[in-house]
Amino acid sequence: MDTKKIIDKIVATSNASVEEIVNILHSHCDDYLFDQADQIRKKYCGDEIHLRAIIEFSNHCRCDCSYCGINKQNTTLYRYRMEPAEIIEYVKKAYTAGYKTIVLQSGEDMWYTKEKITSIIKAIKKLGDIAITLSIGERDYDTYKQWRLDGADRFLIKHETADEALYNSLHPHSSFKNRIKSLKWLKELGYQIGSGFMIGLPGQTLYTIAEDILLLKELDVDMAGIGPFIPHPKTKLKSSSTGSSLLTLKALAITRILLKTPHLPTTTSLEVINIKDRKNAFYTGANVIMRKVHPYKYRKLYEIYPNPSIQEKSIEEERKEIEDYIKMLGRKVSISRGDSLK
Ligand code: 5AD
Repeated sequence: MDTKKIIDKIVATSNASVEEIVNILHSHCDDYLFDQADQIRKKYCGDEIHLRAIIEFSNHCRCDCSYCGINKQNTTLYRYRMEPAEIIEYVKKAYTAGYKTIVLQSGEDMWYTKEKITSIIKAIKKLGDIAITLSIGERDYDTYKQWRLDGADRFLIKHETADEALYNSLHPHSSFKNRIKSLKWLKELGYQIGSGFMIGLPGQTLYTIAEDILLLKELDVDMAGIGPFIPHPKTKLKSSSTGSSLLTLKALAITRILLKTPHLPTTTSLEVINIKDRKNAFYTGANVIMRKVHPYKYRKLYEIYPNPSIQEKSIEEERKEIEDYIKMLGRKVSISRGDSLK
């Protein structure tokens, strides 16, 4: 079938087969795809771009992910933890600067017990109407349940790849089944859930990417992060190639036309490869951007992939810069919490 017709069919029916998605990924019908994705984004999400503040509060990690720079085997990395009081202090600063969503992200660090995270959630909720997204990995059902009761709103835990054998080889400490189980529990508990995957993992094919997109649909995600893989020198995949930005943008656009409403960020890894693709992502389906707000002394240590150091600015300055950028794109800065559009 002609690729344009496949795109039209997906737009109209919100259904696609693996083969149809592979056809689009393989084709050169990019302008048409991107244009459709931009129109769908406008129709379902409007012109608002949601800003999220992220605090990477610990780089300790019990996991051994083959692609990630903070994997536990990287013994050359200085490990840090932010104390709960320091985390709250930075949440306050971000809230004052205008952020209404705080993403708390870390390695899988059991130093932050169920109780410690509970106290952090409760303290944040006392500050105001702030949405909390947790991105702290796999825990048991009761722990997820407690944090939801405490007021956590969202949980981000990417499936990384829909190829079960590939997933298991990249994550020797856990399994694909566990990851999917966590996502399903979180959904059942009433969290707004976020998944996502990387483009360009060694062993991945266009079929895998099609399965990745279809898995986002099956999981019924509220948000999804899709970014290119970037090799890190302190990982097993140090000699692998960087993922393609174009393929990342195509996967983002197909996700937008198939799923319609999820919040889709421009991922930092896409910006790192080529800053110009941040703008492209906003014209191919994206409607969210995250900004780091924790102290610079920690930012350099949270290197999941090589990330060139940037000029230090205050949270307010960075917020202003991104707001100006959004306006320059002809879009609006969201002043809401940016909850799920479903
Ligand atoms: N390249 C690109 N993205 C990566 N992530 C982890 N390591 C890398 C890498 N080397 C992504 C994963 C993870 C998120 C926090 O960062 O998708 O879920």
